[in-house]
Amino acid sequence: MATPPTLPLNDNGTIPAWGMGTYSHQGPAGVRLFAQAADDGHRLFDTAAQYGNEATVGEGLRASSIDRAELFVTTKIAGGDQGEATRAGLEGSLRRLGMDYVDLTLIHWPNPSRGLYRRTWEELVRAREDGLTHHIGVSNFLPEHIEEIHRDTGVYPVLNQIQLHPMIARRDVREYLDAHDIRTEAWRPIGYKEHLLDQILVVTIAEEIGRSPAQVVLRWAVQHGIIPIAVSSRAERNRENLDLDFTLSETHMRHLDLLDAGERFVWDPNTHEEW
Ligand SMILES: NC(=O)c1ccc[n+]([C@@H]2O[C@H](COP(=O)([O-])OP(=O)(O)OC[C@H]3O[C@@H](n4cnc5c(N)ncnc54)[C@H](OP(=O)(O)O)[C@@H]3O)[C@@H](O)[C@H]2O)c1
Repeated sequence: MATPPTLPLNDNGTIPAWGMGTYSHQGPAGVRLFAQAADDGHRLFDTAAQYGNEATVGEGLRASSIDRAELFVTTKIAGGDQGEATRAGLEGSLRRLGMDYVDLTLIHWPNPSRGLYRRTWEELVRAREDGLTHHIGVSNFLPEHIEEIHRDTGVYPVLNQIQLHPMIARRDVREYLDAHDIRTEAWRPIGYKEHLLDQILVVTIAEEIGRSPAQVVLRWAVQHGIIPIAVSSRAERNRENLDLDFTLSETHMRHLDLLDAGERFVWDPNTHEEW
């Protein structure tokens, strides 16, 4: 299957237009899953220190037939590694992944009660200069958090990875990100907790165009310029999630846009904290 096209980043780099999550796949089955996904054409793999599976991701990607340089590996700084511990946290991720750089490092959650995300960002700017990570970004940040880190360093993140799918379309945040040339990446894009794939509209569109409901909602993201990172425990579904080279009509896109129920399903980054 063809590999995804790439999109430009605001630091002159590029990123695959869609990718694959890795949570919470571990152990030998995880190694096989990631190796197979890379062999099938997936190029972007999203892990995090917090997932406890970086070693599995690294081993799986090494077991594939794909060169490291062809892959785009993301990891994230855990809440407990913010501030002064950032560099050591990232070095720990590299050790577990068995890699001498990652493509992208994100701050996993702002965790505002600790007051450390600004310092963490400064550390990431340095880590990028030193080549430990090629690109730096954030996850679960609101516009005000991004403005703060930019004020300190003059550096905007290349992307913000947020909870997003047609029922939680995050229009306000996306508008801000677009205006600042920051890419939007969607975690949990399949919306399984909100039963998105059972929505009659999604199922109807899928039947009309001969695609699966998952492909419909992932393609909706892609056509909005959003990078979705779904994952399945089944290789055939990861292939399905990779096969997004088709177009939804303007009418289908408009109808899917109507599913937005606003922010009410979203974990609020000002109060939800993770370690
Ligand atoms: N930054 C953050 O705070 C944050 C938070 C959560 C997640 N993430 C990242 O985002 C990635 C994706 O989120 P997620 O894993 O929570 O959710 P997801 O990928 O949206 O959904 C996973 C669920 O969807 C099912 N699924 C996947 N592909 C399918 C398909 N083609 N058809 C039908 N069902 C399908 C899977 O079931 P089966 O396995 O049974 O197929 C699984 O139950 C994570 O792996 C992680 O890398 C980031």
